Amino acid sequence: MTLLKTTLNGQAVSTDVPVATSLLDWLRGAQGLTGTHAGCDTSQCGACTVLLDGVSVKSCAVLAVQTQGRSITTIEGVAKTVDGKTQLHPVQQAFVNNHGLQCGFCTPGMVMSALCLLRETPLPSDAQIADALEGNLCRCTGYVNIVAAVREASVAMSRSPA
Ligand code: FES
Ligand code: FES
Repeated sequence: MTLLKTTLNGQAVSTDVPVATSLLDWLRGAQGLTGTHAGCDTSQCGACTVLLDGVSVKSCAVLAVQTQGRSITTIEGVAKTVDGKTQLHPVQQAFVNNHGLQCGFCTPGMVMSALCLLRETPLPSDAQIADALEGNLCRCTGYVNIVAAVREASVAMSRSPA
């Protein structure tokens, strides 16, 4: 066991963690954050993508203890609560607006990868969006609406930064 002190969705967390536990298993198990999906568990599908200090990582390929002193954001930490109501992040809203999901299994990972892209490249080209999402697989949508969603989000966020 290692004492892990980290920040999870803006909240300080201090807890003992087995050293071999993946970040994915720790999030979904001990933390109950099941919005981060387990697809392949071998760093192939991107369903488990979260942000670590603002940068997208595949949480199945990171040990929980590697987040020591760092900041983790999962899909549960993306929307805001305003006056007691959930307000989707512009990226989430753009996925809704553009039908950027069908079964939704890949969607949390897609959103997290898109957030990383838009932090680094606020107005990406379609090619840059496709490049940024190349590690996120979707077996339903054909990707066209996902790229459209990220494009719409980039424009919305450039007008009104989230
Ligand atoms: Fe991590 Fe597939 S579950 S990349
Ligand atoms: Fe089903 Fe992407 S919406 S895997």
